[in-house]
Amino acid sequence: DDGECDARIDAAKRLLGDRLVILGHHYQRNEVYKHAQLTGDSLKLSRLAAETDAEFIVFCGVHFMAEVADIVSFGKRTVVLPDLAAGCSMADMANLAKVRKCWAELSEILDPDEIVTPVTYINSAADLKAFCGSHGGIVCTSSNARGVLEWSFARREKVLFFPDQHLGRNTAYKMGVPLDEMVVWDFTRPQGGLTVDQIRKAKMILWKGHCSVHQMFQPAHIDNFRKQHPDGLVISHPENNLEVCEKSDFVGSTETILKTVHASEPGKHWLVGTELNLVNRLAEEMKPKNVTVQFMSPMVCMCSTMFRVDPQHLAWTLDNLVAGNTVNRIRVPEAVAEPARAALDLMLSVAP
Ligand code: 13P
Ligand code: SF4
Repeated sequence: DDGECDARIDAAKRLLGDRLVILGHHYQRNEVYKHAQLTGDSLKLSRLAAETDAEFIVFCGVHFMAEVADIVSFGKRTVVLPDLAAGCSMADMANLAKVRKCWAELSEILDPDEIVTPVTYINSAADLKAFCGSHGGIVCTSSNARGVLEWSFARREKVLFFPDQHLGRNTAYKMGVPLDEMVVWDFTRPQGGLTVDQIRKAKMILWKGHCSVHQMFQPAHIDNFRKQHPDGLVISHPENNLEVCEKSDFVGSTETILKTVHASEPGKHWLVGTELNLVNRLAEEMKPKNVTVQFMSPMVCMCSTMFRVDPQHLAWTLDNLVAGNTVNRIRVPEAVAEPARAALDLMLSVAP
């Protein structure tokens, strides 16, 4: 039961002391989140992973986050993901074979290495970050996408943005890129389903990927909320579609959402368009301040892969570390890690 798991987790934390750091993403369920020693959005967690001196990083999050932790710590830390099945369905919408095929198809029309910057959202496999690192490209997160795109457009004419079309579109739109200069690359069709003319004219080539959680949030949910609470405030994650983001008062990463609502005046009503576990926790935290926090969708939509990390898996991985066994280590081969690190370092230098 949970009480027994809590006791095992606490004991392991005591026994391992400074040798261990447990990192927790804001979407983790409470029973896990409460054990995290450091929490954050994906950008903050990648910085924390780079800075820690701990021997073991137990990453309560999803696979790509643990890979980033291994890459930025040069493989010097043992990075553990409590459940190896904790992936990200959006990250899986792009893979190296598909992106290479896209690059090759672009090469028949233009010289992508001269005029296209490949930008990968951090929600992607390590080999896609490596692809970017090897083609003059870069990584971004939901909190620094704008700075990364500004850097990209100052250098090359076009951006190929994967896997999340929404983060790419929302960010470019806010920067003033018109929608008719953005195209969606449908990787299931030859040449992305686009004409040569469309490709030549496009400034933003958006990969046809999305987050299955955020796709549930719709503009009508915001309209309904505003009818009930004309003075209410709406905050959304940039993985939402353009209409949802345009109708929101604030758009930001999970860390920004938490900071913004935490700073709210008493008596306010908030509608929050991001993952359910974060929203439920925030609602509880804000109750004493007389601030209400409502989840954007009438349907239950949580990130089922984030939810795979549970106290049982966390206790099991920690018990093993105490016993001198490493289970569920995430290791990125150095041949991939090196160019991926270059793309991550570049991100941290142009948009910290
Ligand atoms: P953050 O960068 O805001 O933590 O978002 C990560 C994520 O997976 C959102 O769905
Ligand atoms: Fe991936 Fe969406 Fe889950 Fe974030 S919420 S980890 S983008 S599936």
